[in-house]
Order: sequence, then structure tokens, then C-alpha cells
Amino acid sequence: MRVAMIGTGYVGLVSGVCFADFGHTVVCVDKDARKIDMLNQGQIPIYEPGLESLVAKNVSEKRLSFTLDLAEAMAGADAVFIAVGTPSRRGDGHADLSYIYAAAEEVAGLMDGFTTVVTKSTVPVGTGDEIEAIIKKARPDADFCVVSNPEFLREGAAIDDFKRPDRVVVGLNDPRAETVMKQLYRPLYLNETPILFTNRRTSELIKYAANAFLATKITFINEMADLCEKVGANVQEVSRGIGLDGRIGKKFLNAGPGYGGSCFPKDTLAVVKTAQDVGAPLRIIEAVEQVNKDRKKSMAQKVIAACGGSVDGKSIAVLGLAFKPNTDDMRDAPSLDIIPALQAAGASITAFDPESMGEAKHHFKDITYADDSYSCIDRADAVVIITEWDQFRALDLTRMKAALKAPIIIDLRNIYAPEEMAAKGFQYTSIGRP
Ligand code: UDX
Repeated sequence: MRVAMIGTGYVGLVSGVCFADFGHTVVCVDKDARKIDMLNQGQIPIYEPGLESLVAKNVSEKRLSFTLDLAEAMAGADAVFIAVGTPSRRGDGHADLSYIYAAAEEVAGLMDGFTTVVTKSTVPVGTGDEIEAIIKKARPDADFCVVSNPEFLREGAAIDDFKRPDRVVVGLNDPRAETVMKQLYRPLYLNETPILFTNRRTSELIKYAANAFLATKITFINEMADLCEKVGANVQEVSRGIGLDGRIGKKFLNAGPGYGGSCFPKDTLAVVKTAQDVGAPLRIIEAVEQVNKDRKKSMAQKVIAACGGSVDGKSIAVLGLAFKPNTDDMRDAPSLDIIPALQAAGASITAFDPESMGEAKHHFKDITYADDSYSCIDRADAVVIITEWDQFRALDLTRMKAALKAPIIIDLRNIYAPEEMAAKGFQYTSIGRP
């Protein structure tokens, strides 16, 4: 199969290279000349484990290429994927679909013969209908089908999520497009991955429902963690105790500083807005959103309390800035709330993150960046762990204690065992554990 992939952001790039690795010929197209130049030189604009080598392999085997020219990308394509951004629209929280609609117009102008147009971006219910209308208006003669095929990949595990998904969801209404989609996902068919064919609107909603449910699960356990702290229970054991019930499931029950990232905050907001507009409010998701926002803000207070009620004039070491490990992504990261609040309370901040410090420089003012964990914590009054990078789990605690001015650790990701930290003489605060 020949695939044109419009948009070389996270979803576009990962989907493009994985389809190429499935054996298809993929041309990725983007309007950003700098990105295309980089990609053509073998550089990857984002940090994602395994992506660089997979791109290099598929480029060298001539299944993957990058261009600024949509006509070149679409020549002979069996499927055209739209994987452009759908940011939250300023002001009202709805998804901004201008990039999607602009792409649809351009695709319409270049269609030749039956074309399967697939949305990979997360788009509100009804967007496929809108794309269909745009194409029909521009090209009344065109023969095409608009398909919804949402992507469920997680940053940091994106390639594995794409190649070994729990399921693939496809929404369409044309048997010819169904054949194309089956061919594209043939390697997954062969290993018996469930592929759910449904109608387009249902498929569009499945993506939002999945993200909203996962955000709810996290927020649920985060509130349970607060309760655990008050009543002397251990949230990790509560997670395990409920998660072993197959009806609940053990994933996404790690309590922390609140969810961030490019999807959960944006998608929960967008689905809440859609639901309000059609008069079927999602009150649980509305609450989840608010609780999560409040939580990220309240984490600075937790740090201040652990530092004896004030951080004024103190030097705080922050380990981890990205919204989660194995990514350089800072979008809606809890660090964006926590660090400015600590600074406003008079703290000076030294931070270290293995991948996101370049990105962080656009977000924070007046912080010092360290070259590694140990120089970050050197002479600090307290350490705050915001992101659970593996390398933070493996720090030498004796060396850490010797480097600190005061042995105070606030671990917002529960990466250490409270008993061990107590035995080593730390004043250790974590989330939802005695
Ligand atoms: C998410 C969805 O998982 C993915 O299916 C969708 O396509 C895009 O959005 P992503 O944002 O990359 O993926 O990361 P994810 O691993 O889901 O984490 C999201 C946020 O939730 C992070 O801030 C993470 O720290 C937090 N989280 C996750 C928790 O606090 N606890 C958990 O148990 C799991």
C-alpha cells in the first residue's frame, strides 16, 4: 500500500514510520520546512525512544520519505492520513480544527481516483462529516471515503503502542475503504489484534471516551491518595487491592501530582464542551478536569508543608520537568504549576530533566539547570521529584543525603520505599502513603 501522512508531529511521525515498518510505502508531508529538512537529514524533532533508528532503517530501505509537497506525497496513494494538530481553541476549549479543514481542502484538490482519507488526529464527533462536506464542495466529482482511525499511542511508548496495540478502531461507511484499512493493518490482523469496525461518529467518540475514562481513573486514585494520607492507609496497596479485580484493572492507578500531557487535558476539555453543546453534560468528566487542575496547583503547598511551612529563601532541587518519563514534552506538565508557585513563595529552583531542559527554557524564568541529578541536589534545602525517570529511581541515597543541606525529599511519584527512606534518615514525603 502507498500512504500519504499529513503532519509530522508525534502521531503523524510515529504512525508514518510504523506503517513503513509494516512494509508499506509512506511519504510524510509537513508545511514546516525546518522539520522536513531535519527529517531528511535523519534528525528527529521529538524525543521518543526507538524512533530515530526506526526512521533511519525505513528511510534507508526506501519505504519512508519526507516532503513539503502534498502532490508528491499523494501521487498514487491508497490512503491519505490527516495527522495534523488539534490544539484547544483559545477562549472556549473546543478543539481547533482549522488545520484539519485546511488539509481536507488541499487533499480535495489533489485526489485522483478512489481515495481513502483517514483522520488520525483526535477530532470531535462529526469532524469526519465536515471533512466529507468540504471535499464534496471542492470536488463534487471526487470518489472518496472519509475514515476515522484514532490513535491511542502513549508518548515514551509510542512505537510499541502502535505496533502492539490492545485494539485498532476504524470508523467508516464504504467497503472499499474497509479493504484498504484491512490491508494497512494486515500485520496486526495476523497476530489477532482486535480491529473494531464501526461507524465514523462512534469511532471519533471512542477516542475521547477512552482518554476521559483513563483521566478519570487517575483522578480517582489521586483523590484516594489524599484520603489515604488522612486516614493512615497506603494508596499503592489500595491500587493493587482494587486493580486485581479484573473489572477494575490495575493500569492507570498510580497516584501522582495530576495528569498532564498533550492529550488528557485537551481531550477531556473538548469532550466536555461537545457534551455541553448538545445538552448531554458529562458531569463526571467536568469534575475530573477541575480536580486535576486543583491538584497540580496544590502540589506546591505539599512541598512547602514538607519544608516546615516555608520555602522562603530556600534552595529547592527539582528532579524531572516533563509531564512523564521518556519524553521531552512539557505540555500541561505538573512542573509548570509547581515551580512558579514555589518561586512565588520565595524559593530558588535548580532543576534537572534528562530530556526536556531545552523545552523547559521556554516555560520557566529564573531557574538554574543542572547537568545531572547529583549536581542538581548539591547543597539544596529539599528535593522534589516531579517525573519518575528511571535514573531517579537508581540514585545513590547515601551520596544524595551527603549532598543535601537538609535531608528532605518530596517524592510526587512514589518512586522510593518510605521504610527505606526513613531508615536512611530522610524526612520523606510521598503521595498517599504513611
Ligand atoms: C495518553 C493516552 O494514554 C494515549 O492512549 C492517548 O493516545 C494520548 O494520551 P500520553 O499522554 O502520552 O498518552 O501519556 P500517559 O502515559 O497516558 O500519561 C498521561 C498522564 O497521566 C501523565 O501525566 C502521567 O504521569 C499520568 N498518569 C498516568 C498518572 O498520573 N498515573 C497513572 O497511573 C498513569
